[in-house]
Amino acid sequence: NVVRYYDFTVSRGIIAPDGYQRDVLLVNGAFPGPLIEANWGDTIVVKVHNNITGPQEGTAIHWHGFLQHETPWEDGAPGISQCPIPPRTSYRYEFIASLYGSSWYHAHYSAQYSGGVLGPIAVHGPTQAEYDIDLGPVMLSDWHHKPYFDIIEEMLAPNGSPRVLSDNNLINGKMHFDCSTVAAEDKTPCTNTAGISQFTFRTGKTHRLRLINSGSDGVQRFTIDEHMLTVIAEDFVPVKPYNTTVVTLGVGQRVDVLVKADVGKPNSAFWMRSNLTVCSAARQPNAVAAVYYDRASASATPTSGAWSVPDPGTCANDDLDVSEPLYPIPLPDPTFTQTMDIESYKNASNVTLWKFNGVSMRTDYNNPVLLLANDGNYSYPAEWNTVNYYRNSSIRIIVNNNGPASHPMHLHGHNFYILHEGPGTWNGTIVRPENPHRRDVQLVRGNGHLVIQFDGAPGIWAFHCHTAWHASGGFLSSLIVDPDAVSDMRIPRDVERNCRAWERWSRHNV
Ligand code: C2O
Repeated sequence: NVVRYYDFTVSRGIIAPDGYQRDVLLVNGAFPGPLIEANWGDTIVVKVHNNITGPQEGTAIHWHGFLQHETPWEDGAPGISQCPIPPRTSYRYEFIASLYGSSWYHAHYSAQYSGGVLGPIAVHGPTQAEYDIDLGPVMLSDWHHKPYFDIIEEMLAPNGSPRVLSDNNLINGKMHFDCSTVAAEDKTPCTNTAGISQFTFRTGKTHRLRLINSGSDGVQRFTIDEHMLTVIAEDFVPVKPYNTTVVTLGVGQRVDVLVKADVGKPNSAFWMRSNLTVCSAARQPNAVAAVYYDRASASATPTSGAWSVPDPGTCANDDLDVSEPLYPIPLPDPTFTQTMDIESYKNASNVTLWKFNGVSMRTDYNNPVLLLANDGNYSYPAEWNTVNYYRNSSIRIIVNNNGPASHPMHLHGHNFYILHEGPGTWNGTIVRPENPHRRDVQLVRGNGHLVIQFDGAPGIWAFHCHTAWHASGGFLSSLIVDPDAVSDMRIPRDVERNCRAWERWSRHNV
């Protein structure tokens, strides 16, 4: 096992991924940011420099899906596992590539990742399925033309709408945009010739694509015209390979697929498509990229026709019996069971906010960091929305969604078991208890339920909706597992040093 070093600088920039120019935040000047690549078990070291100026902002980066069981303080969740990294300061993350497959990193400070601070992760591990070529990440993301901060301000203004419409849908940070749809008074530079992403298939070979929904809100439906997709992993969990024409991904979810280039001739070209479902708040929901076989002319426009895969309109993931983890783990008996409700409400100033488990959690970055703020019994103020599970070994959570919107539920630090998901309330049925589905994000449909269970590792773990706008509107909780073990953890000095630097900066700037 080796150490993989990366050096990230987060700064402001101006880009036009779809032709419409906007202010963004970038990692090393790129959108999406650079690929992190490692082998299973390697140590990943990322030195993050916060170079966000004009105006300055804190930041923190989360390595989505990694377990962080030895290093919960490297999880990148400000307010929970660290203070934000203050401007003009660096923080060095060091953690183990504890799982293999495909993932992404993203800022976990406010909705900063919607502003561009994100990138792909590929961890190479044992191959469960044969393929010839790794085509790498295929990042699917809804895209907004306004800076994230403005979106949040509008959303959280009195009578603001919690339903934030995206302007476009991107594949690996590219897509066309029809500038004539921009309002006449909007003088932002816009061109119709931004171009789309291109992929090359080698005729007769099998390719691996690492699909990642790195968007803010929308549920993606991914297809490649005339080609079957063989699913081999969902999030960081290898699954028994199965074939499908369409793959559904909620925000934060990843699906690894194999595609054999044996449909066309060596000079064929096909459309890759990713469409946001009707449950997504989108003005332009359809993204395309071009797939060229190796002898096709790269200026040719594909003429292929789309698969007929009607939008199911349910805003849910595929049924839990569609796929099955490759390496079975039987569901243990829960040692604790709890129900958590999702509700939206209007506060006294008519702002629509989310309540999760009875609390609307608005992170105040000047509060002490949970992991460091051990008061002896971990009784944090109610408005911090913590749940203490003490030393329970397997915790079952029944999530009841009391509203029409669907939510991609994400738990940090664990692959949770998914016992059931569906409309209404849970009837106690468990899908495949001998080998339940596992992943780190799962959609709960509107007015439905999701039942998960996880074997808790000592630490404090965010459990939240991955829709950026919902998390910013209060939809976040922190689960405390084994607080005694947490207080015995030897947290590196750097974590406290960063908090002191943040305190100094925020005293003068917030
Ligand atoms: Cu990918 Cu708490 O997030």
